[in-house]
Amino acid sequence: MTHATSTLSRSLAQLEQFRAPLSQVLPRLRSAGRVGLHAGGLMSAWASALPVDGVDLAFFKNSFAGAMALHARVLADPDKREALAQAEREDLFTLPVFLASVLPDLWRIRSKQREERQRLPVEPRDVFPYPDYYLNDFHNQANGGLSLRSALTYEWQIRLLFMGANRLMRQGLIDQIPEGDYLDVLDVACGPATWLGQAWAQNRRHRYTGIDLSPSYLEAARLLRRKATLLQMNAERMLPEWTGRFDLVTCIWLFHELPGEAMECVAAEMARVLEPGGTLLFMDAIQEADATEEEQGAFRHFQVYFNEPYFEDYTRTDLPELFARHGLRVERTERWFMSKLLTLRKEE
Ligand SMILES: C[S@@+](CC[C@H](N)C(=O)[O-])C[C@H]1O[C@@H](n2cnc3c(N)ncnc32)[C@H](O)[C@@H]1O
Repeated sequence: MTHATSTLSRSLAQLEQFRAPLSQVLPRLRSAGRVGLHAGGLMSAWASALPVDGVDLAFFKNSFAGAMALHARVLADPDKREALAQAEREDLFTLPVFLASVLPDLWRIRSKQREERQRLPVEPRDVFPYPDYYLNDFHNQANGGLSLRSALTYEWQIRLLFMGANRLMRQGLIDQIPEGDYLDVLDVACGPATWLGQAWAQNRRHRYTGIDLSPSYLEAARLLRRKATLLQMNAERMLPEWTGRFDLVTCIWLFHELPGEAMECVAAEMARVLEPGGTLLFMDAIQEADATEEEQGAFRHFQVYFNEPYFEDYTRTDLPELFARHGLRVERTERWFMSKLLTLRKEE
């Protein structure tokens, strides 16, 4: 009996020894599986529709490593892992639309390439005064940002583009929002507002207003039952009565789609609608000064292949100076994989 007990306790001690390394290995395996799956999808979609020559392979290798590191970092926290899993379960609603769109989308992009066309016409179906720069098929999407199909497939497109790190990057912004339900928050260019579900699951249950130019993206946000007031509005001209209204303004991945004058107007408007001392959380792509040589090389390909006509200009824009012109001071800058997060404060 004594012998059996001591053998058992020895075996348990040996198991204990394995537990620690196993708990380190499992998250890595999980991250590698996730990143590998998405990177595989991205590479196959790219190779079947776009020229791959000229893109530095070191860029893909480093991006893979960057996506892995971000996955391992965020997924190591059980609360964030659970919130992410919940948000990604929600993405399953739009998966059938994405899968049904893959072949027609690849075919359309391929035909565009064959005909050497940089852009296809985008037809508004309402009389909203869209700015000219918006009538572009960004990311080669069907009818640009104006079709429900592009709105419902958007999260999956960027999921492949960022090797599964789309929601992990936005987690950086969510981390900066205090928990609770007491803030008046404006999300500028909210799109389908997918990140709001992720924020809600993490007890950021504030009063949200989302604005976007696209009625279809707003429709997608409504179909996803986002708890926010959703309004079709040009971020260059927000409501006059909003002056000084919001405690917090968020803006994710808008500026790289804007020409310089529009960036200036949107920065001015975001500053205007913030209360004095209020915070702007701004996330967008990394820029030239943040990027390695291979990343800088990839900027050019991204601009051309993903039809992002203002991307390179954006990468050279001095954001702290742009915001400072409108009374917004950068307090902190953090890189989140292929994006960066700026925390800015409006002067009192
Ligand atoms: C790349 S998406 C980002 C969506 C969202 N913020 C996210 O977290 O994924 C860019 C969004 O900006 C919107 N947009 C572009 N120009 C705009 C403008 N001047 N005013 C308001 N929304 C605009 C587009 O319709 C699109 O939904």
